[in-house]
Amino acid sequence: MLAGKTILLMIGGGIAAYKSLDLIRRLRERGAEVVPVMTHAAGEFVTPLSVSALAGRKVHTDLFDLTEEAEMGHIQLSRSADLIVVAPATADLIGKVAGGLANDLASTLLMATDTEVLMAPAMNVRMWLHPSVQRNLAELRGQGVGFVGPGEGDMACGEFGPGRMAEPMEIVAAIEARLTGGPLRGKRVLVTSGPTHEPIDPVRYIANRSSGAQGTAIARALVRQGADVVFVTGPADVAPPEGAEVIKVQSAVEMLDAVRSALPVDAAIMAAAVADWRVKSASGSKIKKVAGALPVLQFEENPDILATVAQMGEGRPGLVVGFAAETDDVVAHATAKRSRKGCDWIVANDVSPETGIMGGDENAVVLISDSGAEEWPRMGKQAVADRLVERIATTLGLGQGG
Ligand code: CTP
Repeated sequence: MLAGKTILLMIGGGIAAYKSLDLIRRLRERGAEVVPVMTHAAGEFVTPLSVSALAGRKVHTDLFDLTEEAEMGHIQLSRSADLIVVAPATADLIGKVAGGLANDLASTLLMATDTEVLMAPAMNVRMWLHPSVQRNLAELRGQGVGFVGPGEGDMACGEFGPGRMAEPMEIVAAIEARLTGGPLRGKRVLVTSGPTHEPIDPVRYIANRSSGAQGTAIARALVRQGADVVFVTGPADVAPPEGAEVIKVQSAVEMLDAVRSALPVDAAIMAAAVADWRVKSASGSKIKKVAGALPVLQFEENPDILATVAQMGEGRPGLVVGFAAETDDVVAHATAKRSRKGCDWIVANDVSPETGIMGGDENAVVLISDSGAEEWPRMGKQAVADRLVERIATTLGLGQGG
């Protein structure tokens, strides 16, 4: 519930602005006051009349509205809210704030505030991937701005890929996580999940049998506890969690790049089943079948993402958690893996086929830390995630790893 909470909702000029109408309705259903601000471009997509009718109050659009200045200055407007939500956050608005520009009401409010800001970006896929936009996002993340979405899918412009604004209910979940607290509020946590696909040629790849279920359950539990979650996922079977910032990758090398660009974080949970090797010089065109001749694949080692993050000096997350999927001598192998990789904890499990754990709904894990090996009973993957996240919250609350 959001009763008693005031949300300053800034609507940017993008086709996704229509979803903001539903967002206002959902927020008000939960008892929140919504103070709407629209950019001039937003008015090309939705009318101020619809926005004010749904919000039940006046829409603010103009920086130089003198009556407004007399009644409630724009500085006051930006500071009286519990949370500022920018949805859709366009490349333009993101760029203005990252660059310190304030030439309209929305950008001025964003510059003049010390209230927490949550952005739901929406833009064309090429724009989203553009290095300038990615640089601006990194700048804002560094300033503590939170993000929800964007998702991936068909876009109004006819293209496909990341850039689609998060659905209203995902934004509501992210807002609730921030405003109703949770022990991990204000903590930024990275989760890697799913398998990686290592290309052989444009149509074939090498992969492993990870569904992404455990990593997704952990990210979901982190969101529920109020964390800002960056979820870097390979091609998984299960849908990514709501309320997290989702970065989809294919290969281990792409996963490492995404992980690096997500730093700094307070904790990193590496649940991905990363392929240890990739095909050296994967073919740019489809390898044709030639009678009597078998292709020979040469491999090279993939970067170890967990070890890279765990062993970075400056900027190392306060808590780094790895996973170990073993088939025998689980505790001995996982303990050795913990010291080899340099992480704080290892969540180890026995993935022998008879356990039914790989691809199943349950997990039986051993948590290996400084204080030894702690065996947990077999339980659902979400229950394992909840218990692990509880432990993470306690540890981060104490301001330490280990
Ligand atoms: N991991 C990673 N990058 C890799 C390989 C693994 O980040 N290239 C991470 C996984 O996400 C997991 C942990 O390391 O958290 C364990 O991976 P695993 O493949 O079991 O470890 P290895 O060192 O490859 O040992 P093994 O010989 O058992 O494969």
